[in-house]
Amino acid sequence: MKIIVLYGGLSPEHDISILSATNVINALLEADYSVQPYYINKEGKWLKAPLVTEKLASDTLLQLKQAHAASWGDGKGLTSTGVWIQPGQIAEDDAVVFPVLHGPNGEDGTIQGFLEVLNLPYVGAGVTASATGMDKIISKQLFDQAGLPQVPYVYFDKRDWLQDQSRWIQKCEGNLLYPFFVKPANMGSSVGVSRVENSQELIKAVDVALEFDRRIVVEQGISANECEVAVLGNDDIHASVVGRLVKSSDFYDYDEKYINNTVEMEIPANLPEAVSDKIKDYALKAYRAVDGTGLTRADFFVTANYDIYINEVNTMPGFTQFSMYPSLWQATGLNYRDLIDELIQLAIRRHQAKASIRKIY
Ligand SMILES: Nc1ncnc2c1ncn2[C@@H]1O[C@H](COP(=O)(O)OP(=O)(O)O)[C@@H](O)[C@H]1O
Ligand SMILES: [Mg+2]
Repeated sequence: MKIIVLYGGLSPEHDISILSATNVINALLEADYSVQPYYINKEGKWLKAPLVTEKLASDTLLQLKQAHAASWGDGKGLTSTGVWIQPGQIAEDDAVVFPVLHGPNGEDGTIQGFLEVLNLPYVGAGVTASATGMDKIISKQLFDQAGLPQVPYVYFDKRDWLQDQSRWIQKCEGNLLYPFFVKPANMGSSVGVSRVENSQELIKAVDVALEFDRRIVVEQGISANECEVAVLGNDDIHASVVGRLVKSSDFYDYDEKYINNTVEMEIPANLPEAVSDKIKDYALKAYRAVDGTGLTRADFFVTANYDIYINEVNTMPGFTQFSMYPSLWQATGLNYRDLIDELIQLAIRRHQAKASIRKIY
């Protein structure tokens, strides 16, 4: 079977997608799939790469990005030249799409909707879960409804802010205790996120966040461990063991996560069993709240007293072999290759289930 891997993308998380895709492609080859990669560049143009026949070196896809496309000849495993295409040209019978795309225009339902229109099976969350999972305001409202504990938050949009900045500062300061975390509603990998300690910093941080989205959420900061759970499945869903990020600072920004590589993982997290069980239960509830299918990584704050707050869900979490999501499954008894294989099977099953739904009345 042919797997179409989409990677890159019109997103600030472009480079992380390239790292994830390299690992995913190699695992697909190991599981005997044939792999057709499509690179989406930072202008949103699609490049059809040659079929991948042998394992990629870790920097092959990065080199492609740097060369900005035309020449695939030098990369190990890639033997001919890519061609620019119209996105609709990816439609092929019997292929499954693996959108290894993080952030806006990839993890947010846009690509998923496009693949629905093409009627192709694809890995991961559908349109609703992708869009609601990506949107920190909508997902918070859904988590509230599902009874999941969260830190206090305030949200507003660009128009609110431009019309009456002081009202929103007051609203934040009246409802939340400093430090605050200011975030664009739709983004990931800590892009556009700031930690602030006073109103001057708040104003600056909102302006930064507004560069990335028109809607903003401001949260009360919490001093806590960050724990994560991997969820997998369509109707029958499973939670992995809980993992913990071993912190060296109180804010994991983009550089800490991807440049300095300072983030260590403790898997399973050293927590009382009842606490781990509760976190897993919340992860499954969050999955259902956003109508998850395929996979998601649910992220939590856990305080020293074991108070648990859900932070967010990521419907296409980082997917390198060292990333939290696959590592959690590894520790739960499912290795990277089998995990990739299971995701492909879940994509096919969801597509089949959808085919059996009546469309005409
Ligand atoms: N309310 C909060 N209290 C403490 N730390 C936070 C809070 N919100 C975010 N952070 C820190 O900022 C990081 C990025 O925020 P997050 O909401 O996870 O956004 P992203 O979608 O970019 O991953 C988190 O991993 C955590 O380190
Ligand atoms: Mg996060």
